[in-house]
Amino acid sequence: MFSTSIGRKIVMAVTGCCMLLFSIVHLLGNSSIFAGAAGLNSYAQHLHSLPLPIIMAFRAVMLAVFVVHVLYGIQLTIENRTATPTGYAVKAQRKTTFASENMIWTGLLLFVFIVFHLLHFTFRVTPGLTLTSDAAGHFNVFAMVASSFSTFAGAGIYVAAMVVLFLHLYHGIQSFFQTMGWNCDCSQPAITKLGMVVALILLFGYVSIPLSIFFGILKG
Ligand code: HEM
Repeated sequence: MFSTSIGRKIVMAVTGCCMLLFSIVHLLGNSSIFAGAAGLNSYAQHLHSLPLPIIMAFRAVMLAVFVVHVLYGIQLTIENRTATPTGYAVKAQRKTTFASENMIWTGLLLFVFIVFHLLHFTFRVTPGLTLTSDAAGHFNVFAMVASSFSTFAGAGIYVAAMVVLFLHLYHGIQSFFQTMGWNCDCSQPAITKLGMVVALILLFGYVSIPLSIFFGILKG
């Protein structure tokens, strides 16, 4: 669709920003679990009671955003690697971090996690899930989530995935400002801190859910 590398970078920045916003809203919604089973279940019922065309349109847009971000990420990485001169005696000094050097790998791991997560909590086809409904026929989302995070493997997969999400967002947020041209030498330290703070808030917010259930702090 976009023939220039900068065009594809801007698309990556905008789609990345959409997914960051989704992650923030999803965490806020998931935090209703700290109000117990009633809190999470009534939040889920509220979401499922939205008109179906709205739900489906939202899912279609998010799927398109996700697919474009992944495909352009792979394409840009291949372009960058094939364009990087390797035979120079003196390598240009660029400030890199573990997060910035491994964006393609953290991105691909997140892709695997999101596919797993959808099979797990949206399509509910992974083994070992507690799938129950109340007398009114409302699905018990809390029981499903609690059963998943009560095992070491179940909680561990989510904690590990959230560390990967942290690494991807830490660099991704800085990269967004750079691509949009909204940074300069004077603002770079503040942008780096912003990336760190937002990524840390999401990390601690998300891991608090599986860890609270695994350690028995959160009970229905
Ligand atoms: C501890 C971490 C997480 C928990 C406990 C969690 C929980 C859930 C639950 C319970 C659902 C199903 C909601 C329902 O159908 O009622 C869901 C759906 C979903 N989650 Fe998560 N989630 C977590 C992390 C994430 C992350 C990091 C992402 C990606 C950035 C993500 C993306 C999604 C998506 C795309 C859906 C499908 C939304 C839809 O049905 O349209 N989740 N999650």
